[in-house]
Amino acid sequence: MKKVCIVGASGKLGRYMVRHALDRGYEVVGVCREQSVGKLKDFEGRIRVVPGATDDRGVIRQAVAGCDGVLVVLVPWGVKQYSSGTAQAVLDLAEPGARLVFSCGWHISRDGKDVYSWKFKALVRVFGVVARLFRLVELDDQVEACRKIFASDTRWTVVRGSDLEEGESEGLPVWSRHVGDPVLKSNLTRRVDFALFMVEALENDALVREAPAIVGRNTASALAYAAAN
Ligand SMILES: NC(=O)c1ccc[n+]([C@@H]2O[C@H](COP(=O)([O-])OP(=O)(O)OC[C@H]3O[C@@H](n4cnc5c(N)ncnc54)[C@H](OP(=O)(O)O)[C@@H]3O)[C@@H](O)[C@H]2O)c1
Repeated sequence: MKKVCIVGASGKLGRYMVRHALDRGYEVVGVCREQSVGKLKDFEGRIRVVPGATDDRGVIRQAVAGCDGVLVVLVPWGVKQYSSGTAQAVLDLAEPGARLVFSCGWHISRDGKDVYSWKFKALVRVFGVVARLFRLVELDDQVEACRKIFASDTRWTVVRGSDLEEGESEGLPVWSRHVGDPVLKSNLTRRVDFALFMVEALENDALVREAPAIVGRNTASALAYAAAN
């Protein structure tokens, strides 16, 4: 892995990913909205920035050229298929054979075998309805984006994040195939470590065509699982 593109580089998760990617010595190309370029000033001179909407195929074509890996922050902003447009552009335009790693939340299910608490289901439902009502976020479109990814024959990974918190890195999160698995019970990950998992996934072939659900390695459920196994 030599050159990676980070789509959504200016957000919190994106900036952590830029840092981890530079730490690994990768050449980095970042994509972010025009008005957010300033949020990447700490990396000036160390990364190339391609400004523009992440679902703009011209922007993505330019940014992913020559990249061995593409990290994508999937966000369902607005009601204009932003997430699915972004995913489709990356799936179509990334270099053949490139590693593609997408972020989303636990609410995405690959095979319908995730087991959610009633509280989680209620929160997702209420958030989805309210957000759509105010035309802020289109949760269903993140589902559609992931449906496209799961159906793709590219070398993808969809990393499903738990609830997030800020704080120092605790190291690589642990993962499991299904929400509801005991190891994930604590439902909390440091955002910096979510980013670490995304970047590490680039070189982990065991994660190709997997949709790992992650949790912080020092959470109670992860520690209990490690002690019992
Ligand atoms: N927040 C959570 O608790 C949580 C939990 C589980 C999983 N996740 C997943 O983690 C990923 C990132 O989450 P995060 O909370 O850490 O957010 P984040 O990194 O701050 O990312 C937000 C992204 O959305 C973009 N954005 C904001 N407003 C926008 C708009 N109006 N139109 C287009 N783009 C806009 C931001 O770009 P600008 O810099 O240009 O604003 C940025 O790239 C997502 O895939 C999410 O599904 C989050």
